[in-house]
Amino acid sequence: MKALRKFLRRTLWYGVFKRLGHYPDYWYWQLRGKPIRSPHLLKQRTVREYGEKYGLRLLIETGTYYGEMISAVKNSFDRIYSVEKDPALAHRAARIFARDPKIQILEGDSQQVLPALLKSLAQPALFWLDAGYYGWAGLESDKRRLSVELEAILRHAVKGHVILMDDAHGLDGKRGALTIGDLKSRIDSEFPGHHVEVKYDILRVTPSAQP
Ligand SMILES: C[S@@+](CC[C@H](N)C(=O)[O-])C[C@H]1O[C@@H](n2cnc3c(N)ncnc32)[C@H](O)[C@@H]1O
Repeated sequence: MKALRKFLRRTLWYGVFKRLGHYPDYWYWQLRGKPIRSPHLLKQRTVREYGEKYGLRLLIETGTYYGEMISAVKNSFDRIYSVEKDPALAHRAARIFARDPKIQILEGDSQQVLPALLKSLAQPALFWLDAGYYGWAGLESDKRRLSVELEAILRHAVKGHVILMDDAHGLDGKRGALTIGDLKSRIDSEFPGHHVEVKYDILRVTPSAQP
């Protein structure tokens, strides 16, 4: 199985192989009494649900990885930008989605790419922040990156953006990370008019008054 996985990882089919595990992962998570780390299927449902609820047709993802989120939700959005720092993963995703003009893979560090992308945005977007903010294998993590990106989104001239951030358990105040409480009070004081909550390990920042 390990050898097969290693072989598939080198092919463009690895994402499809990974997708086969999404339902078993979900059922296993249910069986274990829904532990903190939630399965990818639930994350996909959450991204679709928030897009629909807030009428958002533009999705911006940080951390493309094998493009599983893009594949799962692409029919629910008119345009998708996904930012990936690892050049090999970014090139691979660019090849996989090359035929779909609504999907654009942006190679680079989300801390620089996201603020630059925001400059060209004229409509509210759903943000799926999932770029290993508190360390990702082999990539040094800048502890300020999440704050930089959240601030860029919340200060943006266009209002109505919705932010979902995966792995909220990383907001534990350790190793330079913020706590959920810190983040909530900063958003309350600096960006009033937003609701902040964590459910199933996903931080959700939404406009208080629904559009
Ligand atoms: C958890 S995976 C993303 C999973 C994907 N969003 C999904 O839902 O299928 C995290 C990804 O973030 C990427 N990453 C880590 N640091 C990054 C950074 N500073 N900027 C952009 N991508 C980064 C990693 O290379 C990895 O591919």
